[in-house]
Amino acid sequence: MASMTEPMPERPAHRAARRSSARGVLARLLAAFAVAAANGAPAVAQGPAQRSAPVPAQRSAQMPAQIPAQTPDADMARRMLACTPCHGKEGRATSAGYFPRIAGKPAGYLFNQLVNFRAGRRHGTAMADLVEHMNDAYLRDIAAYFAALDLPYAPPPQTPAQTPPGAAAAAAVLARGEALARRGDPQRGVPACTACHGARLTGVLPALPGLVGLPRDYLLGQLGAWRQGDRHAASPDCMETIARHLDDADIVAVTLWISSQPPAADMKPAAAGTLAQPLPLACGSGLQ
Ligand code: HEC
Ligand code: HEC
Repeated sequence: MASMTEPMPERPAHRAARRSSARGVLARLLAAFAVAAANGAPAVAQGPAQRSAPVPAQRSAQMPAQIPAQTPDADMARRMLACTPCHGKEGRATSAGYFPRIAGKPAGYLFNQLVNFRAGRRHGTAMADLVEHMNDAYLRDIAAYFAALDLPYAPPPQTPAQTPPGAAAAAAVLARGEALARRGDPQRGVPACTACHGARLTGVLPALPGLVGLPRDYLLGQLGAWRQGDRHAASPDCMETIARHLDDADIVAVTLWISSQPPAADMKPAAAGTLAQPLPLACGSGLQ
């Protein structure tokens, strides 16, 4: 019965939820810090913002000496240091571990997720506490700030996790994963991932996220969360349909293939309007 209630791909989500609840104290501190920052209060002396000023050298060099580093950008960079313990320096999480990268993702997608955490459509992490008291205008500013960061991507981990033993078996799983990503499986009602996430899987403006560059554990966690009703997007939730149509072996295959792809030469999301319409399934989010 345990296998019925906790099928394999769901486990990373549970593990991650436990990992993030173990960080509860840190999260509460950070939440207090982020809320104070959102309200315009000065950061507490021990706050992470005090450790370094992430003002790009070029920009600070252009700033007249008498103006302190309080331009809107510098101020936002300082406030967003609250996110770096989990999302990595400037929001560019590594390709391993669980935390998703947020730098360079489409602004509409980031905004939708921050709203989803606040509204309880995504659960089980410190994110809900962090955004609880932030209004839409501030969430839009946060989304715009991270979307505009253009930073290099880490290569995929050298030894991909959970590859089946034996070169032939691993190659077969990767081939299945690539087929699902590029062509889908019409018999199962699974469209190609590229039909919505873009030909290079780097996302599409304004609100479709890229998939390449996300850690495997995170991909597994998200597909599992959709299947078990822990993640929801605006209705109709096309990803819920897709996740429910994929079986465990497909989820293993498609996440393994995606997470083993080297970063594309250009990781920027594709321009708005570049997807063939209509999309293979209707999605309530993604286009706005
Ligand atoms: C205590 C750790 C922690 C901190 C601090 C944190 N996050 Fe997160 N964040 C997470 C985790 C874990 C997830 C993945 C949640 C899930 O499994 O659905 C996440 C997911 C996100 C997502 C969704 C990404 C996606 O691809 O869907 C966004 C956007 C985000 N965080 C923004 C922020 C911002 C902005 C801050 C700072 C104000 C921040 N986070 C601080 C842990 C954290
Ligand atoms: C019909 C369009 C469509 C197709 C096809 C599609 N997706 Fe998605 N996907 C979306 C939308 C829209 C979102 C954003 C949902 C939201 O706003 O929460 C999304 C989000 C995701 C996310 C969350 C990314 C993150 O950063 O948290 C993952 C993972 C994902 N899709 C995987 C896949 C995989 C794997 C496939 C192929 C098997 C696929 N998708 C096919 C529309 C699609």
